[in-house]
Amino acid sequence: MGLIALLGCLVAGAIVVGHQSGRQPDPQTLLTQRIALGKQLFNDAHLSADGTIRCASCHIPEKGYTDGRRVAVGVGGHTGTRNTPSLMTLAEAQETAFFWDGRRSALNQAVLDPLTNPVEMGLRDQAELLQHVQQDPTYAPAFTRAFPDTKPAISSEHIAAALVVYVRSLRSPESAYDRYAAHSDKTALSPRALLGLAIFQGKGRCAECHRLEGAPATLTDHAYHRTGVGLDAIAANLPTLTEEVIKRSLRDGAIGNRVATHADEAQLGRFNVTQDPADIGLFRTPSLRNVSQTAPYMHDGSVATLDDAIDREVYYRSLQAGHPLQLTVEERANLKAFLQTL
Ligand code: HEC
Ligand code: HEC
Repeated sequence: MGLIALLGCLVAGAIVVGHQSGRQPDPQTLLTQRIALGKQLFNDAHLSADGTIRCASCHIPEKGYTDGRRVAVGVGGHTGTRNTPSLMTLAEAQETAFFWDGRRSALNQAVLDPLTNPVEMGLRDQAELLQHVQQDPTYAPAFTRAFPDTKPAISSEHIAAALVVYVRSLRSPESAYDRYAAHSDKTALSPRALLGLAIFQGKGRCAECHRLEGAPATLTDHAYHRTGVGLDAIAANLPTLTEEVIKRSLRDGAIGNRVATHADEAQLGRFNVTQDPADIGLFRTPSLRNVSQTAPYMHDGSVATLDDAIDREVYYRSLQAGHPLQLTVEERANLKAFLQTL
């Protein structure tokens, strides 16, 4: 580009910027500013009690926004009780309930909970969160750009709103199965994966819960099911455990703080939210998008590999449905080849 042309562009740019500064930025610009702010917050370790943990410490981009650990490790090296779920599936699976027990139905509340969870980011309360954000001079202009209309620009509502749009902007790349399903690209799945798909939909009955409807497929039914994972260990202690949960009757974020620090109660799953005995040991069906990259598996991370997860689900789900299912080594390999295309 010649110098004159370059100057021309710069001047034109300045005129556009100058023209816009006096009026409301367009929605797309605002959204971009909010996503950028959300990304900055997501990657900021200063928002944790000891300055070492950020959202991305556990939701690691290179690992499908999971952490590869059995259970999460937060401030001070404290371990939680649950396996870190991927955040890349939230928008695509159109989730409306959050966490393994679905204790939050609003994402803008769910994104704030980790900040004050004692074994995740460990802040005392939202006042401390605001202090930390206000101490960083880069945030004031970023919040004003992202939320030009409301004062003060820095507030917990705006922190939540920025984190929400960032988390919702995370998408998994188009998978082989997406190509197969959406564009009818019949070559996107290998012959082995196609045999696996037939089992997934057919005698394996996997698709009853990991649903193939939707474009892209959600791979969840947004419902809760008994898992058989982890419940045996607390069976003897069940009456006392459940009684205490009912006595405490915690709600929302307080449930999260409690279950992250009490492994036995965490195994009660959905019961912690509803206190309905029928919900003891029920967990949300996870979407299987990217499942080959999110080991280890299940709410407590107790299943190390995809092969083990398949074996468990084939055995337990079929038993539960009253149709005990035997799959040959070959058929399991086919099922795995299919799961690897998701
Ligand atoms: C110490 C590790 C850790 C950190 C730090 C962390 N998370 Fe998480 N995240 C988890 C775990 C574990 C769960 C599941 C907890 C449960 O179900 O009880 C989770 C669940 C979630 C969920 C619900 C996802 C779903 O599918 O239900 C969202 C949203 C989320 N985290 C966002 C964030 C944001 C935003 C931050 C930073 C403010 C953050 N997380 C920081 C470990 C972490
Ligand atoms: C009745 C509903 C249901 C059926 C049928 C079902 N699943 Fe699941 N699946 C779940 C639930 C609920 C979980 C979470 C269990 C937990 O965390 O303890 C899960 C977890 C998984 C996981 C681990 C995912 C992760 O991110 O941790 C895999 C893999 C899986 N299922 C594969 C299958 C396969 C393969 C089949 C068919 C053989 C199948 N499922 C049938 C409900 C179901």
